[in-house]
Amino acid sequence: MDILQAAQNVQKATSEMCLRCHTSTGGGPNHKHGVTPTKDSDVHMAKGMECTACHTVKAHKIAGGADIKAHEVPEVIVACTNCHTAAPHKGSQKTLLNKHGNRIACQTCHIPAIARDPKQPTAIERDWTRPVLIEATGLYGPTNKMANNVMPEYRWWNRMMLVPPEPVGSKNDPKAKIFPWKKTTYTVIGDAATDKAIFIKAGVYAITGDVAAAAKKGAEDAKQSYSGQWKGIKETMSFSLNHQVASKSEALKCADCHGTKGRLDWKALGYEGDPMKKK
Ligand code: HEC
Ligand code: HEC
Ligand code: HEC
Ligand code: HEC
Ligand code: HEC
Repeated sequence: MDILQAAQNVQKATSEMCLRCHTSTGGGPNHKHGVTPTKDSDVHMAKGMECTACHTVKAHKIAGGADIKAHEVPEVIVACTNCHTAAPHKGSQKTLLNKHGNRIACQTCHIPAIARDPKQPTAIERDWTRPVLIEATGLYGPTNKMANNVMPEYRWWNRMMLVPPEPVGSKNDPKAKIFPWKKTTYTVIGDAATDKAIFIKAGVYAITGDVAAAAKKGAEDAKQSYSGQWKGIKETMSFSLNHQVASKSEALKCADCHGTKGRLDWKALGYEGDPMKKK
């Protein structure tokens, strides 16, 4: 397309345009966060809302960064309560549900599962020690374990993150709420002598599928010390969940958390036991 034609076609960014890049983070559709917003999986997208309805744009800069650090408009926080009130509930349970909002994020009850769209499973385990040839591209990638309807992990979060990404916060931290997370396990390439992860050369890995060669070239290029013997090392990363908001009828029910097989690990979250049963 020539410059004049491009200039004449300038328009507001649609969701389709944003998703040209954002659908494939992590190497494939919905692989990374597991909650890519689509019409089939998110009540807002189903109503025809665009990404930019929530991710407000200011001079080509896009608000909203969550757990990653590239905040372009740090003074704007993209939050559910930018449109809904902090007491959004109706009906007989409204007082109790609104009170739960003091310590529980909206996302926790309203994003009941990861990768709810059967057409777009997400990667829950990624193993770089086992390269596989991807037919569509003719390149090697890591072995992925894919899944749908994955139950999130629930952790306190005060909006600070560790590196590699893990949420910071606890029950005693007044700024923290319980948020849902997608935990992904990675087996990365490490130095057998030190048990430390090393850089691998992505191009060598993709073209040859030769782990030893990719490790040798990667450590060389990064000027890392390397014994020459590699081994798999396990790492985990946690990603926040903010999309694929389900219809209100699919929100978590009382028993999903307070039932005998409830999904919260009360002790791990800092409670002596289920706070409802004490009352
Ligand atoms: C050309 C590819 C591309 C397009 C198109 C694109 N993005 Fe991004 N976006 C990126 C990259 C790359 C990052 C940085 C990721 C990181 O730092 O890990 C990013 C970061 C973000 C972030 C988080 C960090 C921040 O800057 O606050 C949000 C939110 C975001 N994009 C939303 C959107 C929306 C909404 C659209 C459509 C209006 C869009 N993006 C279009 C590539 C793209
Ligand atoms: C209904 C509101 C809403 C819509 C619609 C929406 N988002 Fe988000 N998005 C959020 C919220 C809330 C966050 C978390 C922001 C925070 O905590 O700082 C977020 C976070 C993000 C992030 C950061 C990483 C992550 O996943 O947490 C990216 C990238 C992103 N959105 C891209 C998009 C794209 C692309 C679209 C459209 C296809 C879109 N969003 C549509 C509400 C929305
Ligand atoms: C403890 C779980 C829980 C939390 C936390 C929670 N919700 Fe809800 N929400 C529900 C349930 C369950 C329903 C369905 C209730 C019903 O149909 O009577 C619901 C319904 C709704 C509705 C539809 C209201 C209606 O009847 O039309 C909206 C909008 C909503 N929630 C938004 C939010 C927002 C925004 C937050 C955060 C400020 C939030 N919720 C926090 C569980 C929760
Ligand atoms: C840009 C404004 C905006 C933001 C931000 C936003 N919503 Fe909404 N939300 C809406 C609108 C508009 C509707 C549709 C209301 C209607 O049709 O009555 C809606 C509907 C809902 C419903 C009701 C769905 C149903 O079954 O009727 C829930 C639940 C909900 N939102 C939760 C959330 C959560 C959780 C977040 C944060 C991750 C969020 N919303 C962020 C505007 C927003
Ligand atoms: C997402 C999981 C979750 C859901 C769903 C949920 N709760 Fe809770 N509930 C909690 C947590 C966490 C606490 C402790 C909050 C705190 O530390 O203040 C709690 C506290 C309570 C308490 C303790 C007393 C209080 O008010 O402080 C009662 C009673 C209760 N919940 C009843 C209910 C009922 C009834 C429902 C359904 C309408 C419900 N909960 C849904 C997680 C949940």
